[in-house]
Amino acid sequence: MTILVTGGAGYIGSHTVLELLNSNQQVLVLDNYSNSTRESLERVTKIAGRKIDVVRGDIRDASLLKSIFSSYSVSSVVHFAGLKSVGESVEKPLEYYDNNVVGTRVLLDVMNSFGLKKIVFSSSATVYGDPAEVPIREGFPTGATTNPYGTSKHFVERMLMDLCTADPKWHAISLRYFNPVGAHSSGLIGEDPNDIPNNLMPYVSQVAVGKLKELSVFGNDYSTHDGTGVRDYIHVVDLALGHLAALNKIESLSGFTAVNLGTGKGHSVLDMVQAFENITGKKIPYKIVSRRPGDIAICYADPSYAEKILAWKATRGLSDMIRDTWNWQSKNPNGYKG
Ligand code: NAD
Ligand code: UFG
Repeated sequence: MTILVTGGAGYIGSHTVLELLNSNQQVLVLDNYSNSTRESLERVTKIAGRKIDVVRGDIRDASLLKSIFSSYSVSSVVHFAGLKSVGESVEKPLEYYDNNVVGTRVLLDVMNSFGLKKIVFSSSATVYGDPAEVPIREGFPTGATTNPYGTSKHFVERMLMDLCTADPKWHAISLRYFNPVGAHSSGLIGEDPNDIPNNLMPYVSQVAVGKLKELSVFGNDYSTHDGTGVRDYIHVVDLALGHLAALNKIESLSGFTAVNLGTGKGHSVLDMVQAFENITGKKIPYKIVSRRPGDIAICYADPSYAEKILAWKATRGLSDMIRDTWNWQSKNPNGYKG
């Protein structure tokens, strides 16, 4: 049986494909390379010593999906494919709703018609909006999102819930990621943003490698221990293993299940800068600028449900995250472009 991984050439997808191969699963990747290259999968093949079947194409292409499900015996789908830039989603909301929501609708429809009813979906802590308290538990209200990207994740979750209510044969696990960072310890695969990074850790590592001059810290007047935003950073390999744990349990979890994937620990922007400097010995010049619209002060998970229901918890700490980020960035200053 094969596991179909949509968006498997991307940052989190490539790390998950590697862990799936390491656990002897058959994997088929479907990716349109809109935010990735074939090189990430070449490197996954190199690390794992095993070949991966890859189809270049779009999740919105129903006839392509039909031909995939006709040719492969797919047991479940791990669904990463989608657009993920918060800022871009504000400028191009229809692209986000088309790719993320319509794309998932097409995928679910074709899966349904083939009687394939098991999916693990890449959701996000962003569905909680600005939570009333932390740590965030899965039962907290969702949907008060602050941008079209977050809303698209919320819509997909609603679609999955409604589908599971309509047809009890469906099994859908929505993994709500907190802040994925780091890279595989080989330094061969990692996060490779197309443009100037939006996210903190890729920005910091590009400052460290000399590609960017200084970090802008978005606000130091939040009610946190040092005034800067606090997040739950999780190592991408722990996150990848969370998908394997979800696949292990999916048969026994009927209907819709939402699970936080985080560590339960919050770190501020300045904590991250300090830790990066301590671990890498690189100086990170920074300036404090105004808050970034849509940002919240504090976001970290209560990860206990994941441990209970998936028998999974994150084991890699902040120093692993930073060491592996730097190992990847310093070995690949221009990402997969060499
Ligand atoms: P990524 O951009 O590196 O990977 C997404 C992959 O999907 C890319 O390879 C891209 O080419 C592909 N893709 C996009 N649209 C497609 C389409 N229509 N058809 C086929 N392939 C398509 O992003 P990532 O960081 O690996 O994130 C993976 C998933 O996790 C996304 O759904 C993202 O929204 C979600 N997520 C990411 C984060 C994060 O901080 N990285 C946090 C929460 C949730
Ligand atoms: N930050 C800076 N300077 C930067 C970049 C970020 O100060 O150049 C700060 C932010 O203000 C925030 C923290 O660093 O306080 C983390 O910001 P990121 O952009 O790295 O991450 P976010 O928490 O804003 O969002 C990320 C993903 C979303 C996802 C969310 C889930 O980008 O897609 O985590 O929690 F939904």
